[in-house]
Amino acid sequence: MKKIFQKKCINEALDCAKNGDTLKRSIGPLNLTIMGVGGIIGAGIFIVTGVASASSGPALIVSFIIAAIACTFTALCYAEFASMIPIAGSVYTYTYITMGEIWAWIMGWILILQYLIASAAVAIGWSSYVVALVGSFGITLPAIISGPMGVNGSLINLPAVLIILALTAVLVRGAEESAKVNAIIVFVKVAVILLFITLGIYFINPANYHPFTPFGITGIFEGAAMVFFAYLGFDAIASAAEETKNPGRTIPIGIIGSLIISSILYVAVAAVMTGMVPYNLLNTASPVSFALQYVGVQWAFTVITIGAIAGLTTVVLVNMFSKARIIFAMSRDGLLPGVFSNVKDGCQAPVASILLVGAMATIIAAFFSLNSIFELVNVGALTAFMVLALAVIILRIKEPELERSFKCPLVPVIPVMSIIFSLVLISQLKIHILQIFAIWLAVGIIVYFVYGKYRGLFTKPVCGVDDEAEGFEPVDVPTSK
Ligand code: ALA
Repeated sequence: MKKIFQKKCINEALDCAKNGDTLKRSIGPLNLTIMGVGGIIGAGIFIVTGVASASSGPALIVSFIIAAIACTFTALCYAEFASMIPIAGSVYTYTYITMGEIWAWIMGWILILQYLIASAAVAIGWSSYVVALVGSFGITLPAIISGPMGVNGSLINLPAVLIILALTAVLVRGAEESAKVNAIIVFVKVAVILLFITLGIYFINPANYHPFTPFGITGIFEGAAMVFFAYLGFDAIASAAEETKNPGRTIPIGIIGSLIISSILYVAVAAVMTGMVPYNLLNTASPVSFALQYVGVQWAFTVITIGAIAGLTTVVLVNMFSKARIIFAMSRDGLLPGVFSNVKDGCQAPVASILLVGAMATIIAAFFSLNSIFELVNVGALTAFMVLALAVIILRIKEPELERSFKCPLVPVIPVMSIIFSLVLISQLKIHILQIFAIWLAVGIIVYFVYGKYRGLFTKPVCGVDDEAEGFEPVDVPTSK
């Protein structure tokens, strides 16, 4: 049983990434920042702001600032770790190094859930925007293929399936290609958001800002817990660490840069939107286009819908990208079958992991309606944020001399603040979400012990840990490329 608490040694982990199956370093600071913006701006701003404004009122802007501060603390922790240990796996890998195998497994299991639900749910949102867009041109898709199973007579959500298959095809071409496709689409969505801000500013009616906090501090924090979702995605790019050039510089720039750009855009959109429309009218499925229609800019619907579709596309892409890298890292460590860490020559992508991610996301997006469990993404991310902050403190104590290209300032204050903010935001989540999350964790622990008993039969040797340790019995199996 000793092995379940076995930690991975940093140097061995880095060597393992150099010597074993490894990914090509092709992403620079600009592309990583754009990738971050691609993963961040999506359903949060185009959909969730509507519901959140019903809680915060015009103080939605304050909710966005609170969520941005919480994410900044976390981003600084990510930047320290990802630049120090620039290999795939993100918080899963950091947990393996600081806390040991079983905690790493649990973290990997949580991240898989988080990115799976995020990509499938956002693909479902993508589908509803596409159905609305083609509908605005007078084309009605047959009901049977245009939504989640059982909703309005639908059997399969075909548009959601198609976007996931298309993005799977992009991802198997490798990180460089994925980053290029992402950059083009990000350009469209940022242009649409800037257009909204520039147009909307002329229609601000200061009277709409009164009362500024109709539901007080409670409403502001409730709103912050909702719009927190809008910021998720900056964390996802930590899993691209193994594919970045000069990671010590590129990763802090990518993570912090994308968070700053998105925060500025979000606060500006919130300020303009709540100034254009009385907050109690904003609780609609597409608040951004509604705001323009409300002030009489009718043509806005098509433009904003295209921006939203672009936004959601890159969120799905980046979430699928990240999940594949987590599975890749877990496989390389011997915690999942070795086939998932085989890297295809030429495109340098973990193809089997990507196909697995594509298959899982397709099945969920094809048949399910995820409205009621969407917040699982938040609980998964918040747990990862807490574990990450803890890992920063642990490693500062245990390995103070280790070279850190980027140092999170004010440790342990900032990591502790990150943990406190995460706990406050978790406390705002619905109880059934926490219950589903607890069940997922319990299943993960069972899988770990059942699978762990047999995994020596079909995995690669565990890299960076002592295979002789008591407990599991990994055997050497040749690595296929
Ligand atoms: N931040 C991402 C979005 O808003 C998850 O869609």
